[in-house]
Amino acid sequence: MSKSTLDNMRAEALLGGGEKRIESQHKKGKLTARERLHFLMDEGSFEEIGAFVRHRSTDFGLDKQKILGDGVVTGYGNINGRLVYVFSQDFTVFGGSLAEAHASKICRIMDLAMKNGAPVIGLNDSGGARIQEGVVSLGGYADIFYRNTLASGVIPQLSAIMGPCAGGAVYSPAITDFILMVENLSYMFVTGPNVVKTVTHEEVTSEDLGGTSTHSTKSGVTHFACANEIECIDNLKTLLSYIPQNCEEDPPESEYSSDTSEKRPELDNIVPENANHPYDMREVITGTVDTDSFFEVQKDFAENIVIGFSRLAGKSIGIIANQPACLAGVLDINSSKKAARFVRFCDAFNVPLLVFEDVPGFLPGTDQEWNAIISNGAKLLYAFCEATVPRVTVITRKAYGGAYDVMNSKHIGADMNFAWPGAEIAVMGAKGAAEIIFKKEISDAKDPAKKLMEKEKEYKEIFANPYRAAARGYIDEVINPQQTREKLITAFEMLKNKVDTLPKKKHGNIPL
Ligand code: HXC
Repeated sequence: MSKSTLDNMRAEALLGGGEKRIESQHKKGKLTARERLHFLMDEGSFEEIGAFVRHRSTDFGLDKQKILGDGVVTGYGNINGRLVYVFSQDFTVFGGSLAEAHASKICRIMDLAMKNGAPVIGLNDSGGARIQEGVVSLGGYADIFYRNTLASGVIPQLSAIMGPCAGGAVYSPAITDFILMVENLSYMFVTGPNVVKTVTHEEVTSEDLGGTSTHSTKSGVTHFACANEIECIDNLKTLLSYIPQNCEEDPPESEYSSDTSEKRPELDNIVPENANHPYDMREVITGTVDTDSFFEVQKDFAENIVIGFSRLAGKSIGIIANQPACLAGVLDINSSKKAARFVRFCDAFNVPLLVFEDVPGFLPGTDQEWNAIISNGAKLLYAFCEATVPRVTVITRKAYGGAYDVMNSKHIGADMNFAWPGAEIAVMGAKGAAEIIFKKEISDAKDPAKKLMEKEKEYKEIFANPYRAAARGYIDEVINPQQTREKLITAFEMLKNKVDTLPKKKHGNIPL
C-alpha cells in the first residue's frame, strides 16, 4: 500500500463522521471524541489502537456507510505520567452508537488494561445500541458488562458521561467505580421520556429524568457533577492522583515535609458547646488533612455523610464522615449506601480509611423501614467489617447506638479509635435514655420536668463521655482536637505495613 493511501486513511479516520457532524457537535456545545482525548492525555502520549476498524454489517444501507474507527476512538497513553487505557465515543459516527466492531474495540483495550494492570477511562457519548445492527449490538454491550464486572476491584474503572447514555448502555458505567457527568450535557436513563410517558403517563424532560443534577442529588448515580467538559476531564485527572494503578499497588504519594508543628489549634473551636447544635464536619476534615487535599465525592447526595479522598502527610486516604450540619449526621438508607460503596472502593484499592464520627443513630420512620434501612444500613456495616486496609476513627462528638458499632468501631476491625474529650459514646442520647429507664420515677415526681433534667444529668455524667469506652479499650486514646492531625499521621505510619486477611471463601454475600 502506498504511503499516500495510509496518509489518506489516517486523515479520514481523524474526521470521524465528517466536518458537518463535527460542526453540529460543536454547535451543541460539545467537544469531539478526539478533542476530549487531547485535553485528557499527556501531550503526545496517546497511541491509538484500531483506527481503521470498520463494521461488517450490510442491513439498512450500512454497507454504504463504513466509517473508519466505527464511532469510538480507543487506545492508551499517560495521564500525569501514568499509563491509562481509554475509549472515547464519537457521536459524529452513527451518534456514537455501539455495535459489534465498536464494542470489540472497547473490549480490546479493557483486556489490555487487565493484563497490564492500569485504569480504564471511558468517555461516553452515545445514542445506545446501534439500531441497524440489532442483536449484535446487545451482544457487544454484554461483552463489555462482563469485562467491567471481572475488572471490578482489579483495576480502577472511571466513566465520564459527556452526552447521552441511555437504555442498557447505562449498565457499563454503573458497574465502573466512578461516574462523572457534565451539567446540561449529559443524561443517563434506562428508558427515555417517551417510553416513560407511554408506560406511566408521566411527563418528564430528559434533564429531569436523568440529567446531571438529578443523578448528583436524587439518585446518587453520579459521583461528580461537573460544570463543563474541561472540569470533568480535570476531575478525572484529580481522581486518578489518589488511586493506584491496580489492586496490587499502593496509591501514589505526594512529597511531604513539614518542619512546622502538626498541631491544629483551630480544631479546638469547631464543635459547639451545646451537643444539639450543628457544625460543618468539612471544617474538621480540612483542618486535619494536608492543605487543599480534600476531594469530595458525591457532594450533593445524602449530605448527612461526607466522603472523599484526601492526603495525610502526602499519603492518600479515603474519608467517611458523619455530617452534623445535615439531619444531625444521622445514618439513613442513602448515606449508608453512599459510604458503603466508597469503603469498598478504598479497600479494593489499598486506600486507608479515616472515619470522623458524630452520629446520633439511624433515622427512624416508616419511609426508612419500608425501604429497607435494615438491609441498607447493613451494607455499610458489612463493608467496614470486610475492609482490611488500615482503618482509624476519630469520634468528635456523638457515637450512639448501633451507629457506634457501624462507624468503624474497634469491634468490627478498626485498628485505632480516638475520641475527643467531649465525645459521648452511649446507647442513646441522655434525655431519651433517662425518659426510658427512669420513666416511673419521673412520672411519680412532683415536678416531672425537673426530675427528667436531674436524671438526664445523672445519665450524662456516667455515659456521655469517652472514658467508659476508653476504660474498656474501645477507645485507644482520648485526644484534644488540636492533636488530631499529629495522632493520625503517627497512627497511619504505624499501620502502613498492615497485613490482614479474610477467611477463605468464594465470595461473601453482602446484603445487596
Ligand atoms: C444508530 C443512531 C442512534 C442509534 C443516534 N443515531 N442514535 N444511529 N443507532 N442508536 C444517529 C442518528 O440517526 C443521527 O444520524 C446521528 O446519530 C445523530 O442523532 P440525532 O438524533 O440527530 O442527534 P440528537 O438530536 O442529538 O439526539 C441524540 C439522541 C437520539 C437523543 C441520542 O439520536 C436518539 O434518541 N437516538 C436513539 C436512542 C435509542 O433509542 N437508542 C437505543 C436505546 S436501547 P445522522 O446520519 O443523521 O447523523 C439500547 C439498548 C442497549 O441502547 C441494551 C444493552 C444491553
